[in-house]
Amino acid sequence: MSAEWQTAPQEARRRRPLLEVQGLTVRFGGLLAVADLDLRVEEGEILALVGPNGAGKTTVLNCISGFVRPAAGCIHFAGRDLLALGPERRAALGIGRTFQNGQLFASMTVLENLLIGRHTYLRAGLLQGLLPCGPAKSEDARARQRAHEILAWLELEPYADCVVAALPAGLQKLVGVARALAGEPRLLLLDEPAAGVSLREVAALAEQLRRWNAELGLTLLLIEHNMEVVQAVAQRVCVLNYGRKLAEGEPGRVLREPAVLEAYLGRDEEVNPLQEQEVSDHAAG
Ligand SMILES: Nc1ncnc2c1ncn2[C@@H]1O[C@H](COP(=O)(O)OP(=O)(O)O)[C@@H](O)[C@H]1O
Ligand SMILES: [Mg+2]
Repeated sequence: MSAEWQTAPQEARRRRPLLEVQGLTVRFGGLLAVADLDLRVEEGEILALVGPNGAGKTTVLNCISGFVRPAAGCIHFAGRDLLALGPERRAALGIGRTFQNGQLFASMTVLENLLIGRHTYLRAGLLQGLLPCGPAKSEDARARQRAHEILAWLELEPYADCVVAALPAGLQKLVGVARALAGEPRLLLLDEPAAGVSLREVAALAEQLRRWNAELGLTLLLIEHNMEVVQAVAQRVCVLNYGRKLAEGEPGRVLREPAVLEAYLGRDEEVNPLQEQEVSDHAAG
């Protein structure tokens, strides 16, 4: 039928995921850190990647952003083959990320970190960008305006001129998120944004993540240990265990699957975040 014929290519384009990971396999020496992982992130989606410590979550993010080279598999972003590109080119395509341990410029101010975050992505000369003169001037003004908007969103504006090292860990974590946002990514990769953040800040962060997703159309791939944050913000969750996908789907259902509960319980040395949540619920109530 003609109507069907006309809509078919559009449908196909719409169904193509923003990020598509196929058969991803990573080895560190004899250790199989990620094993034959398939992962799709749709444009506008919030997908949480969870699993016990050592499951391979950070390694997956490192493969997407270009810091780790997989032994096998492919990664496509907006139809582009990412494995052919270095980390900077991937960032320039619209992939932003935060790091588990911050990795901010500790001796610089919050605002300077955001301006660097932006220039890293835009690939303008750093020094040129920081000095308000020459051809970079209009971009500089725009970058500063954008940085202040992001700081206002995250309620970090009062700290704009504070040196990062002087801030509490929770605030530094938020600065890391702010810096990644300054690059205006299309896909934001967040590695445990709620770790070391106070409960009040966690709630605020969850609210912000939902807002960026809803208002800016930002697609999020989020590693998160705090199951309250996962349940509050993620539309879908993917559970990794020993580098393999254990379960995937709607968080309310997946996080109650026996195999998932067991994966967390099976690691004696680790606190079970699914139990932790019950404890904190009781503590709060
Ligand atoms: N650069 C590396 N060199 C060697 N082993 C690594 C490296 N990065 C991670 N690993 C190992 O790979 C496994 C997965 O690590 P990671 O991706 O950090 O897990 P997660 O983020 O889920 O806690 C772990 O056993 C870890 O020790
Ligand atoms: Mg990790």
